[in-house]
Amino acid sequence: MPHKFVVNGGARLQGAVTVSGSKNAALPMMAAALLAKGPTVLRNVPDLTDVHLMAEILETLGARVSLFPEPGVVVIDVVDENPTAAPYELVSEMRASFCVLGPLLARRGEARVSQPGGCTLGERPVDLHIKGIQAIGSEVIFERGDVIAKGRPTGGRVYLGGPMGPSVTGTANVLCAAVMASGMTVIDQAACEPEIANLVEMLNAMGARVRGGGTSRLVIQGVDELKPCDIAVIPDRIEAGTLMIASAITRGDVTLERCDPDVMLALFDKFHEMRVPFERLDASTLRVNCRRRARSADLTTLPYPGFPTDLQSPLMALLCVSEGYALVEEKIYPERFMHVPEYRRLGAEIRKQFNTCIVTGVDKLYGAPVAATDLRAGAGLILLGLAAEGQTEVLKIQHVDRGYDRLEHKLSALGASIQRVEFQPRRRAEDRRSQRAKAA
Ligand code: EPU
Repeated sequence: MPHKFVVNGGARLQGAVTVSGSKNAALPMMAAALLAKGPTVLRNVPDLTDVHLMAEILETLGARVSLFPEPGVVVIDVVDENPTAAPYELVSEMRASFCVLGPLLARRGEARVSQPGGCTLGERPVDLHIKGIQAIGSEVIFERGDVIAKGRPTGGRVYLGGPMGPSVTGTANVLCAAVMASGMTVIDQAACEPEIANLVEMLNAMGARVRGGGTSRLVIQGVDELKPCDIAVIPDRIEAGTLMIASAITRGDVTLERCDPDVMLALFDKFHEMRVPFERLDASTLRVNCRRRARSADLTTLPYPGFPTDLQSPLMALLCVSEGYALVEEKIYPERFMHVPEYRRLGAEIRKQFNTCIVTGVDKLYGAPVAATDLRAGAGLILLGLAAEGQTEVLKIQHVDRGYDRLEHKLSALGASIQRVEFQPRRRAEDRRSQRAKAA
């Protein structure tokens, strides 16, 4: 039976909350465990459906995965290094599973992974992954919807810049493919995201020789062998940002523990512009204590260290109730505005053209049933529900569960009224048709 969130708006969030580990660091790190035989231990892993799905994929690839024997711990024990093909049924459910391509190729000399399709964020090609793998000496062919990479990488020069900037998982794939190459690899226009720096840290702990993690140039000297490691996933900067916005939108007083303020400067800059007060209490603690309405500010999404596309819909939620109007420009996924019609259902005033929206702040929003179109859209709708008058029901929350670790528990503990409720979905048109056909 599916679930929905029932949110009653109006509560001011107050208290302390612990930020979970990063989804977008954990998923490629789980895939990278395939680079060594034996048990790799990952700590601070968030409990998400995407993490469970990645575990299933790794199991089909010869790993025994133990999920959360202790809070935050995932153990990936690679026992059989023969499988090289990831099954379509699992891979098609999550784009990040394409991250097994690089590790399989590096360690097993061959990889077959289905080519991801488009999604609600737009087309999302993988040409940069392929170009990078070819540039380090492997062959890539396409067969029945699968990408097949063959031949141990030799190393080489790779330029990963694309029309929308560097690719994050593309960088992860090419980096992992190169760590056991016979020669040296230099990747220029690599993604600088902290999640890639975390992966580099893991690879080096396994015995790889990678320099430049977190910068746009990665220099990789191939090594013959890697060993398993024990490493922690960084805090989730997107979850942290979402919780900061939750405090701002409810004019609350929330302290975030176990986060990394150093990687959140683009959001801090927006908060300054929007007159949302916050302070760093120490190296891993932030407090957002907001008593007045925020002021609007324009927003452009960019690759790290620019403003993250994954916080565009959550921040847009705050802009919907801020004073003034704002221009929101999406430069990573020009089509990532599927949430806009849902926001409007709650009374938001948003005009959209191509990759830009104009958001005019309103005094009040009113609760309504809405549906999450993707993970971050779901988070944005919950934020709007917290600010709206009356009750908001958020459907399709399986998207939210993919990327937020028990978000409703964290918000409830801060005083929000949010419940996960089972519900009977209405019959779909095709069910009705087949029922009528049977009756006839
Ligand atoms: N792109 C290409 N060619 C490629 C790859 C990407 O043109 O070969 C384009 C994409 O179409 C997009 C831009 O480059 O316009 C950036 O895409 P990128 O490859 O960096 O995205 P990704 O690696 O598939 C990761 C996160 C996303 C996050 C983006 C951007 C993971 C598992 N996913 O995706 O996270 O939005 O980087 O920062 O790391 C989310 O968490 O909600 C989410 C979607």
